[in-house]
Amino acid sequence: MAEAFNDKTLAADFLSKDRAARYAEVAGEIASVLDGEPNVTARMATVASMLANSFDHYFWTGFYVVDPTKERELVVGPYQGTLGCLRIAFGRGVCGAAAETGQTQLVPDVHAFPGHIACDSRSESEIVVPVFDRVGQLIAVFDVDSDKPAAFDAIDQLGLETILKTTFG
Ligand code: SME
Repeated sequence: MAEAFNDKTLAADFLSKDRAARYAEVAGEIASVLDGEPNVTARMATVASMLANSFDHYFWTGFYVVDPTKERELVVGPYQGTLGCLRIAFGRGVCGAAAETGQTQLVPDVHAFPGHIACDSRSESEIVVPVFDRVGQLIAVFDVDSDKPAAFDAIDQLGLETILKTTFG
């Protein structure tokens, strides 16, 4: 499965595919790879890799997980991309806002977002989706940054919320 997925993401016609259709397709591919795998780190690493390799507008893709040993603090989890910041307090930056509110943050211009944390100065826009377990407890946030302004919209939001709910809820 991994080899077939990797071969496909290299195919040229794949990049121009309709985004909503690709989210639906990769959702099925993720479910298939993770079938029977209970380990949360393995599940997060797989989601980060498969999504990062499925979309051209993704620049940094990964999880900040809720640190059970700290009060209201996120710590970096599995990701794909350039070096990420290690820790983010609830309420700080875009990830902290998603953790604090439990709501997806869609940010077309990171420079206009109060308190945005610039781990990489190339980031221009981002989407951060809270991740809940099956009893509705916040376990992480999923952060995708782009080096293009306004790269994410409602299609990305619905696609990501659906995949994260299905994979971790
Ligand atoms: N953009 C995030 C920080 C994490 S990095 O971009 C990987 C934020 O402001 O929450």
